[in-house]
Amino acid sequence: MKILGIETSCDETAIAIVENGKNVLVNLIASSIAKHQKYGGIVPEIAARDQIKQIIPLIDQAFKESKLNWEKIDAIAVTKNPGLISSLLVGINTAQTLAWLKKKPLIKVNHVKGHIYANWLEREKKPQFPIMVLTVSGGHNELMLMRNYNDFELIGETLDDAAGEAFDKVAKMLDLGYPGGPIISKLADEGNASAYDFPRSLNRKDNFDFSFSGLKTAVLYTLRDIAKQQANDRQPKQSVQKNSEQHALACCKTDICASFQAAVCESLSKKLIRAAEKYDVKEIHLAGGVSANQELRQEIKKRLNASNILKKDVLFRYPEKIAYCTDNAAMIAAAGFWLEK
Ligand code: KG4
Ligand code: ZN
Repeated sequence: MKILGIETSCDETAIAIVENGKNVLVNLIASSIAKHQKYGGIVPEIAARDQIKQIIPLIDQAFKESKLNWEKIDAIAVTKNPGLISSLLVGINTAQTLAWLKKKPLIKVNHVKGHIYANWLEREKKPQFPIMVLTVSGGHNELMLMRNYNDFELIGETLDDAAGEAFDKVAKMLDLGYPGGPIISKLADEGNASAYDFPRSLNRKDNFDFSFSGLKTAVLYTLRDIAKQQANDRQPKQSVQKNSEQHALACCKTDICASFQAAVCESLSKKLIRAAEKYDVKEIHLAGGVSANQELRQEIKKRLNASNILKKDVLFRYPEKIAYCTDNAAMIAAAGFWLEK
C-alpha cells in the first residue's frame, strides 16, 4: 500500500510517498526557515504564503522523482493538528481537494503521532509493544506508553515549555539564531557541561512531567550576571582588555550551551528510563526534532546500560535519519498506514 503524505504544520512544506508504513520511496521538504531567521521564530503569515506556492510543485516533483503516478497511490495522509492554523489549512485543503479529484481515501493524522511513527520508517525489525515513547520537539514534550498501533497512554508532559522550545529560547538569549537546537548542540561540544549548575526540575522519582521554564530563567539570570560583571570590569581605552572580554564571552557561551544541554538531557533521559522501568516495556523510542541531539541519545544509552531493565534486552530506537527526527511527511504517511491497521 502506497500513501502520499502531506505535512505543513509549521514552516515546512513536506511531501512523501511511503510504502506499507515503512519504505520511503520519496521524501521532500521545502522550508521557509531562512525567511523567519531575522525574527527569531516562525511568522505564521510568511510560512503559509510560502506553503501555498510550494505545495503543488513539490507533489509534482515527488511523482517525478519516485517515477510513480496517481494510479499507484492508495491513500493520502495529511497532518490535521496541532500546528499553525494557516499552515495546516494549506495542507488540509490541498489534501481534501486531491482526495476528491483523484478519488482516494483521506487519512487525517495527529502531528505528534506522526513523530512517533517516524521510528517505524526503514526498519528491518518491526517495533514490539509495549513501547515507551518520548516525543521532544519545538512544540511537544510528551511521554507516552504505546500498547498497540492506536493505543497511547499519556504518562507525562511538559508543564510549560517543550524541550526544543527551551533550546530555541536560550539560543535567542545568546543571540545565536533559529532554530536553536542544532546551534546550541554544536557550541556545547566545545564547552564545559559542569561550568554552570543549572536546575533539573520536577526531579522526584514518581513524577513523569517535565518543566523547562526554571532552567530558561536560570540561563537568563546567569547571562545578566555575566553582563554586569563585564560592565564593572570594563576599561574602554585598553584594547587588550576588550579582546580578552570578547574571548571571555565566547567561552561563556560554549559553557552555557554545554551546561544547559546537560540539564535538558538529564531531565529527559532520567524520566524516560524510569518510566520504561515502571511500565516494563520492550522498546524505548525517542522522536521529534530534539531526538536529533547526539548528547541526548548518548545520555539515554548510558542510563539504559546502568538500569536494571537492560537484562530484558530493551531496545532503544531513534529515527533512522536526522530528516525523520524533524518535521517531515514520511512520518505522516507512515502514521496514516499504521493507525488505520
Ligand atoms: O519536530 P520539529 O521539527 O518541529 C516541531 O514539531 O516542533 O522540532 C523542531 C525543534 C526545534 O525546537 C529545534 O531547535 C529542535 O527541534 N532541534 C534540536 C536539534 N535539532 C532540532 N534540539 C536539540 N538538538 C538538536 N540537534
Ligand atoms: Zn513536529
